[in-house]
Amino acid sequence: MRSVRERAPAKINLRLRILSRDPDGYHQLETLFQAIELHDSIEARIAGATTVRVEGDVDIGAPERNLALRAAHAFRDEVHEAPQVELRLVKRIPAGAGLGGGSSDAAATLRAMNRLSGEPLDAAALLDLGATLGSDVAFFLCGSSLAHATGRGERLVPMPAFRPVPVVVVDPAFPIATADAFAWWDEEEPEPRKATTLRRPDDFDALRPNAVNDFESVVFDRHPELGRIRDVLERAGATIARLSGSGSCVFGLFADDAPPRELDDVLRGVAPAARVLHTRTLA
Ligand code: C5P
Repeated sequence: MRSVRERAPAKINLRLRILSRDPDGYHQLETLFQAIELHDSIEARIAGATTVRVEGDVDIGAPERNLALRAAHAFRDEVHEAPQVELRLVKRIPAGAGLGGGSSDAAATLRAMNRLSGEPLDAAALLDLGATLGSDVAFFLCGSSLAHATGRGERLVPMPAFRPVPVVVVDPAFPIATADAFAWWDEEEPEPRKATTLRRPDDFDALRPNAVNDFESVVFDRHPELGRIRDVLERAGATIARLSGSGSCVFGLFADDAPPRELDDVLRGVAPAARVLHTRTLA
């Protein structure tokens, strides 16, 4: 085998609570991850040097900071006999968007490297390696489309997924740095809170009362148009309409009725520069 392909799906957070700040500045969270159909694609081909080539019109910054490339190097540090690879990354997931695109690229790269190397790492070892690359990477390696997470997002309880339903993702076309959003949260000096154990709800409707995102208040204060997008999605009948992660994307999940046909036009009315992406949850 000289080359393998992997899909790198995006995620949305159906629930995200920030519990406390650790002495090193990281935060304890409680979140519910849901993978969606929107995805990047990765091809890893055995080559003489480890490189990455990015296609697609998503700006993801300098190649040396590319999380897929960092994942390939991390895998080779762990598995010395692993080959060098030329990565081709077809980027569709917006960056700085709260959709976990970079983390998913890293997870897909680790899976690809493991296959190319004859599967030297088992699932637990891949998860450990993934967690060193970013807080969301472990979710994309857990093998489930729905998972509850605590810690920094790496302590996962996979759940059986619900049937796929439509999701409208609104990309306001500007990024939000996760570190900035956490700093805005810290400025409010909230009291530490305890994690609650979230029992698996029966369906998306049952989840609705628990579908909160603690980032919304601080992010919507600074970017009121994101709050207006959320309100439009809610009025359009979304079962759950929320900021995803720390933003900048806002999603509407439609578990009952399909999104109304005029929705894209209404969204463009409140956010003229926004891109509206129609996708689905993964089962
Ligand atoms: O883990 P990741 O590199 O995606 O995180 C980006 C930034 O977000 C971190 O540098 C940190 O400032 C913040 N962060 C945090 N607590 C977490 C996850 C991320 O404070 N649980």
